Amino acid sequence: MAILVTGGAGYIGSHTVVELIEKNYDVVIVDDYSNSKPEVLTRLKEITGKDIPFHEVNICDKKALREVFEQHELDAVIHFAGYKAVGESVAQPLKYYSNNLYGTIVLMELMNEYNVKKIVFSSSATVYGMTNEAPFTEDMPLSTTNPYGTTKMFIEQFIQDQYLADNQWSAALLRYFNPIGAHASGRIGEDPNDIPNNLMPYITQVAVGKREKLSVFGSDYDTHDGTGVRDYIHVVDLAKGHIKALEKVMGMTGVEAYNLGTGKGYSVLDVIHAFENANEVEIPHEIVDRRPGDIATSYADVTKAKNELGWEATYSIEDMCRDSWKWQKTNPNGYES
Ligand code: WQD
Repeated sequence: MAILVTGGAGYIGSHTVVELIEKNYDVVIVDDYSNSKPEVLTRLKEITGKDIPFHEVNICDKKALREVFEQHELDAVIHFAGYKAVGESVAQPLKYYSNNLYGTIVLMELMNEYNVKKIVFSSSATVYGMTNEAPFTEDMPLSTTNPYGTTKMFIEQFIQDQYLADNQWSAALLRYFNPIGAHASGRIGEDPNDIPNNLMPYITQVAVGKREKLSVFGSDYDTHDGTGVRDYIHVVDLAKGHIKALEKVMGMTGVEAYNLGTGKGYSVLDVIHAFENANEVEIPHEIVDRRPGDIATSYADVTKAKNELGWEATYSIEDMCRDSWKWQKTNPNGYES
C-alpha cells in the first residue's frame, strides 16, 4: 500500500516525501512540473536511496490520473498539487480556479471510485483573511482576498462536504503559515520560477548576488517595527507535521483543520537581521510602498496541532535562515544545472 503525493516534486511536497520514506512509507508522486523540475527526483533518490514511482501528470487529466490509481494500491493522498502565486491568481483567476479546483475534483472523484478516502490537504493560513486578529485559531471564520486563497478555502469546503456525504472519509486540512528553510543536506529547497514572490527566496537570491537588493514592502504597519509580521516555519518541521497528520487520518474519520506554524511572529526586518547574523552576510534592502493585499500580522495559535497531532515546530529562525542559505549557496541557480 502506498501514499499518493500530488505535487510531490515541489518545495513542500519533496520535503514531505523525504520524511515519508524515512518513516518507511511507500510513496507515489504525481507532478506536472509546472512549478518544479525533474532534477528534484534525482535529489530525492540521492537523499533517500529510493527510486520513487513517479508519474508526470496534471491532476486535471482524469485519464492519466486514473492510470495512477490503477497501477498502485493507495492508502491515502497528501495533496499539494496546485498553483500558489497570490499575485498571478489575481491576474489569472480562471487559471487558478480551473487547475486547483477542477484538479481537486478529479482527484477526489478517483479517490472515491477507488475507495481511497483519506486525505491530507495542503491548505494555507491565507484562509484567515484580513478580519481575524492573530494568533489565528482553527475555529475562526474564513475569508479570502485573492483567488489563490479562495481555491484553498473552497477545497476545504469540498472535503468537508464530501465527508458529510460519506462519513468514511477522513481528512486533515493543514493551514501552513510561512514555510522557509531547506533540508539539512542542501540538496532540495525552494526554487521559485522567475522573480520570487516570497520573502526568503528573495533574500537568498540577494545574498547569492542574483538580485541587487530586497524591497521591504511597507514600514508603516501596526507592528513592533512597522514591517509585516509573519509566522515562519521550517519546511522540515512542516513536512514532519504532514506525517503526524497522515497518522491521524489513518486512524479516524472526520475532517479537522490544523495550523502548522511556530506560534511566533517575526517582522521583515527581524528576518533580514536573523539571516545576516546567522550567515554573516549583508542583505542590502530599501523600504518601499506596501504590497497590495498584505496584512500587518499573521501568526498561529498552535495548541490544536500540539494536542491532537502531537506535533510542534522545533527549528529556530536562525536554523531556517542557515538552511535557506545553504540551499541557495550550493545551488545558485536552483535545480537548473
Ligand atoms: C512575507 C512578508 C511581505 C517579499 C504568501 C501567501 C501564503 C503562502 C506564503 C503559498 C510580508 C514581506 C515579501 C518581498 C517583502 N503562499 N515581503 N519583500 O505574503 O505572508 O504569504 O506566501 O503557499 O498563502 O499568502 O508571504 O513571503 O510573500 O511575505 O517585504 O520581496 O515579507 O510584505 O510582510 P505572505 P511572503
